[in-house]
Amino acid sequence: MKESMMWKAQKDGLLELELVDLREFGSGPRKTVDDTPYGGGDGMLLKPEPVVAAIEATRSDDSKVVVLTPGGKPFVQSEAERFSSINHLILVAGRYEGFDERIMDYADEQVSIGNYVLTGGELPAMSIIDATVRLIPGVLGGENSAAEESFSDGESIEYPQYTRPPEFRGVRVPDILLTGDHGAIARWRKEQSESKTQQRKKL
Ligand code: 6GU
Repeated sequence: MKESMMWKAQKDGLLELELVDLREFGSGPRKTVDDTPYGGGDGMLLKPEPVVAAIEATRSDDSKVVVLTPGGKPFVQSEAERFSSINHLILVAGRYEGFDERIMDYADEQVSIGNYVLTGGELPAMSIIDATVRLIPGVLGGENSAAEESFSDGESIEYPQYTRPPEFRGVRVPDILLTGDHGAIARWRKEQSESKTQQRKKL
């Protein structure tokens, strides 16, 4: 969060990031935040008291509390867009084998970043922050412009892109891109985006 885009966004006053350490809300001399699951099973669960105490100490009236869990709603580009206009987003990242289910009463949403299981919510939180922050107006200087986005309803550029050199190990940049004919280039890119080869790359 102290690198590149994320750091500049903070310096420019477009973003404030606060890290809340769950352990500060733990109980006893060891600041315990976890316990064994009722009914048995592997590993430890996060206890409800510290998680809820951390949420309540952090939230205000305009906060949106998002719990990161592999069983949550899939995080997709349109969700990143929605998050980018929320004033105060609280991402609750767990460790261990999961949360006591009762903390979900204090969440506005549950989100997953994909169909695989990670050991904790930190990487999901960082992915969500990255995808969301780059959409805040002013964060990427003009790069996420309307022109680029009108290309497809998603955001990603689906056509192949090239930079110098014009020939690399015998493979040339498509001639059309060197013509300077912006209309023809736009048509070529659209055609490429829709082509079967491009579609197959997604599989
Ligand atoms: Cl949000 N958490 C964990 N632990 N694993 C995940 C995930 C979240 N999303 C995908 N896998």
